[in-house]
Order: sequence, then C-alpha cells, then structure tokens
Amino acid sequence: SKTRITVIPGDGIGPDIVASATRILDHIGCDFTYDYALAGLTALEKTGELIPQQTMDLIENNKIVLKGPLTTPVGKGFTSINVTLRKHFELYANVRPVQTFEGTKAHYSDIDIITVRENTEGMYSGQGQIIDDNRTIAEAKSVITRKGSERVIRYAYELARREGRKKVTALHKANILKTTSGLFLEVAREIAKEYPDIESSDMIVDAACMNLVMYPERFDVIVTTNLFGDITSDLCAGLVGGLGMAPGANIGEKVAVFEAVHGSAPDIAGKNIANPTSIVLASIQMLRHLAMHTQAEQILSALQKTIKQGDRVTQDLGGTGSTNEFTQAIIDHL
Ligand code: NAI
Ligand code: MG
Repeated sequence: SKTRITVIPGDGIGPDIVASATRILDHIGCDFTYDYALAGLTALEKTGELIPQQTMDLIENNKIVLKGPLTTPVGKGFTSINVTLRKHFELYANVRPVQTFEGTKAHYSDIDIITVRENTEGMYSGQGQIIDDNRTIAEAKSVITRKGSERVIRYAYELARREGRKKVTALHKANILKTTSGLFLEVAREIAKEYPDIESSDMIVDAACMNLVMYPERFDVIVTTNLFGDITSDLCAGLVGGLGMAPGANIGEKVAVFEAVHGSAPDIAGKNIANPTSIVLASIQMLRHLAMHTQAEQILSALQKTIKQGDRVTQDLGGTGSTNEFTQAIIDHL
C-alpha cells in the first residue's frame, strides 16, 4: 500500500513552498498519498483551533509529516504549535543538517554538518519557572535525564551509521554545569563505546562555536542538549547561507515531522517569490528517513545543479525566478 503522509501546508508562504516540494516528489514517482491537514493561523480562522483534533489524529495515524511554517498569533496566550507537537508526540530529536551549495554567497565551501539537538529537556523543559512580584529574581529549572540523553545520543550514532558518517561530537559545558551537562557528557562517553566504528569526541560548547567558525571541516555529526543545540544549529545554518538553506526534522519513537526551519514570511506571502529550498531539503530528509535513498539523492542533485546555475532561483539567492520557476528548474534537472 502507498505511504500516507500528513501534509500541513501552514501559513504565509507555507502553501506555496509545500506545493513545490510535493510537485517534485510526485515528479520522481514517489507515489505517496497526501492527507492535507490544517494547523496554525489558517486552522484558527477556519476551525477556531490552532491545531484541530483531526490534524492530531492524522499525524498519529500516518506518522510521517511534511510541514510548512506556522504563524503563532502573538500576545493572545497561544502556545507555539511547534512546542505543542514536540511535547505531545515526544519528538525528542531535532535533526538539522546543513551543507554548502555551490552558487550561494555563503562564506565557506564544503560544509556538511548534521546537528542532533535534544528537543524536550534541558533549559527548555519549562519546569520551575519562577519570578517574584518585584521581578528581581528569576528562576528556571534545567532537567537532564539519563533516558533522555541516551535516546538522543543513540539516535545521533544510528543516524551517523545509516548515512555513512565518520564522527560524532558531543557538545557540553560539564566544567561549569557539573550536574546537568555532566550527566549528558557521561552518557555520551558511555554510548560512544557501543559504536567503535564511528569516531567519537566531545567539546565544550563555547570552544566548539569558535572551532565551527574557524575549522568547520572538523565537524560531522554534532549531538547536544536543547539550548546549546538551538544556538549552534543556527550558527551552522549561517555557515551555508542562512536559515533558507536549512531543513529540520523532529523525530520521536513513532512520529517524525519534517519542516522548513524559517518562518511563514508574511512580508512575501502570496507573491510567488519564496525560496522553496528549505522545505525541499526537508522532503529529502523525509525520503532518507523512509530509506528512499535513490530518490533523495536525485532531488538533492537536481537542487544543487539549479542553485549552481543560478538564473532560475529566487531573488534571495540572487536569481530572478519565482517559486514556480525555481521548482520547474529543479524538475528540469531531474
Ligand atoms: P521568517 O523566517 O518568517 O522571516 C524572516 C525573513 O526571512 C523575512 O524577511 C522573510 O521574508 C525571509 N524569508 C523567510 N523564509 C523565506 C523563504 N523561504 N524565501 C525567501 N525569504 C524568506 O521569520 P519571522 O518574520 O520572524 O516570523 C514570521 C512568522 O513565522 C511568525 O509568526 C513566527 O512565529 C513564525 N515562525 C514559524 C516557524 C515554524 O513554524 N517552524 C519558525 C519561525 C517562525
Ligand atoms: Mg532556534
């Protein structure tokens, strides 16, 4: 039977770029069945809910989600939908690959780094948030568990193996954060022993930031806790030309959500000028997750050729193309 994918077009530029990704998937004959689902501002307007139950059911049933960016209304007490999904489906690993594309204005060449960020614990666990009435002292609790560390670190090693990667580097601050980061580092060193075929190292996160800028070629797969991963994965995106060139996957035991990491870009919505690269890369991540490696490599190669050629890409990449033309150029290169 056909693989069913829950597709959330999302808000702003979301529907345009998601359509670009599905057009390409269909063109190479992926033969998926798409179940379209509402979330975000679009869902709120149509159903009164940011993420309707029907969408949650479709995600639960199909397990694979391709998701456009969502607008979370500000100042109305709404929790971010991305956070809701992460918590509800326990999407414990946030996988953020970056790679150099020839033809962009990025400052580096030959970058190829995957960050695996713990997505549920640490400084972002949401626990113990206290501020006194005079707003003089604020507290928040950082929670790291052995189980939470083990599963994300093991995911990073399994990913490294599956994708033929050579090295996993754990980022931490165990010299100062002796309990929390200390536990994460301890678990990382234990799990490293289970993977003798992969080179393991660990590095203090601030030193890692300097090294990422000076010697990015020394990194392959990075695994780290929530806050550090949030920051260092954006740093990595900067090495390859920004968030527009980077996809993200949120992986749980059952459900996996593949998305563009940029937002809904309301300033350019509906103009057919949004760059679809991030969501197309997310669909490549999705194909690899489904072990459809041939199709993944085909799309990647066509995207690389299109960006290198440079004339039919969108304005943000220096071209004159619309979203549709960029998409058509990728299809022409397939
Ligand atoms: P944004 O990423 O939407 O836009 C920042 C700038 O980058 C804008 O100038 C935009 O035009 C440009 N940009 C973004 N994606 C682009 C693309 N594919 N092609 C060409 N240009 C692109 O960030 P912003 O403005 O802070 O947020 C807008 C909305 O998106 C907010 O409601 C925010 O909550 C939401 N958001 C959603 C995310 C998600 O669902 N994963 C992630 C980040 C923001
Ligand atoms: Mg972030």
